[in-house]
Amino acid sequence: MYNSKITGLGKYLPDNVVTNDDLSKLMDTNDAWVQERTGIQERRWIKEGTEDTSAVMGAKAARIAIERSGLTKDDIDFIVFATLSPDYYFPGCGVQIQDMLDMPTIGALDVRNQCSGFVYAISVADQFIKTGMYKNILVIGAEYHSNGLDKTTRGRSVSVIFGDGAGACVLSREEDNNKGILSTHLHSEGKYADKLIVESPSIGHWVPEIKAAGDDDLTYFPYMDGQFVFKHAVVRFSEVIMEGLAKNGLQKEDINMLIPHQANLRIAQFIQKKFGLQDDQVFNNIQKYGNTTAASVIIALTEAWEEGKIKPGDNVVLAAFGSGFTWASAIIKW
Ligand code: UT7
Repeated sequence: MYNSKITGLGKYLPDNVVTNDDLSKLMDTNDAWVQERTGIQERRWIKEGTEDTSAVMGAKAARIAIERSGLTKDDIDFIVFATLSPDYYFPGCGVQIQDMLDMPTIGALDVRNQCSGFVYAISVADQFIKTGMYKNILVIGAEYHSNGLDKTTRGRSVSVIFGDGAGACVLSREEDNNKGILSTHLHSEGKYADKLIVESPSIGHWVPEIKAAGDDDLTYFPYMDGQFVFKHAVVRFSEVIMEGLAKNGLQKEDINMLIPHQANLRIAQFIQKKFGLQDDQVFNNIQKYGNTTAASVIIALTEAWEEGKIKPGDNVVLAAFGSGFTWASAIIKW
């Protein structure tokens, strides 16, 4: 059995910065509310008319990750792509990456686990490397939310939260079983699927029916029962981090860097307090990018690494919770 380790990291955020004040021109909201409830100051939204999509942004992040890994596109054996906002209903974004990066005809898999998507994706990639089936896997998380949000007052409790962006990493074979990804932990609880959902278009509720219903049908916009999700998030984040630490014989004090999914700064601060971590042991960038769902953990991990906040030998913990419900963690010896 091998381990896998991250050998290259990359991120891409669209240029277009949208502040809370910008949003207050579209809907009844204000900077004070958004900052107080979420910590978000601004987010990136793809500007209409630019080439960016989830797949395009993912490809941009991936090129950086591959270059930093010291490998070439021809060394990559497999692609795992996590997104809830794919360019097409089908096929998935993974196959687009294979083409956009002009890679050999390697396999490509899309992961549909929303905010936990990236942690699920590296867990999948890790298993392929552990068994020896693949040596280098490109793992991507990318989201193009802005085109699918209700940007009126009606949708304000959701639309102010989400941002666009992408992150990617190369996961490579590691011979030393004490290094790299030590363990991953995946969970779901489907009875709460309707608490954070985009219901349609679905095969049972297709475009003509939505069109016919007009403004009475808003099922194609994301719906979230915010307080319900919040309450579950704080519990599940804590549980899944503890599970990962216990599996590896680690204590709270052994965490050098926690990278939580950037859902809400208040959730991250709650977890920080619960685990007794200092400010420099938890990385947050929701202030700048909002919640980028499957991209958030990998964008944050990349940025923490770029800023020199992760050093060899560090215990790095990734944790996420979101729609499904799904939640997950990964314990990494950097
Ligand atoms: O990433 C996946 C996981 N996601 C999460 O973990 C998110 C969890 N939930 C949350 O982060 C929070 O619940 C939200 C940020 C979504 C909402 O914060 P909240 O403190 O739960 O606010 P609320 O939904 O209870 O709304 C409070 C008030 C309401 O007005 P009334 O009924 O008290 O008069 C809302 O209508 O704030 C109002 N409101 C807004 N006001 C200004 C809702 N959205 C806005 C807005 N601007 N954008």
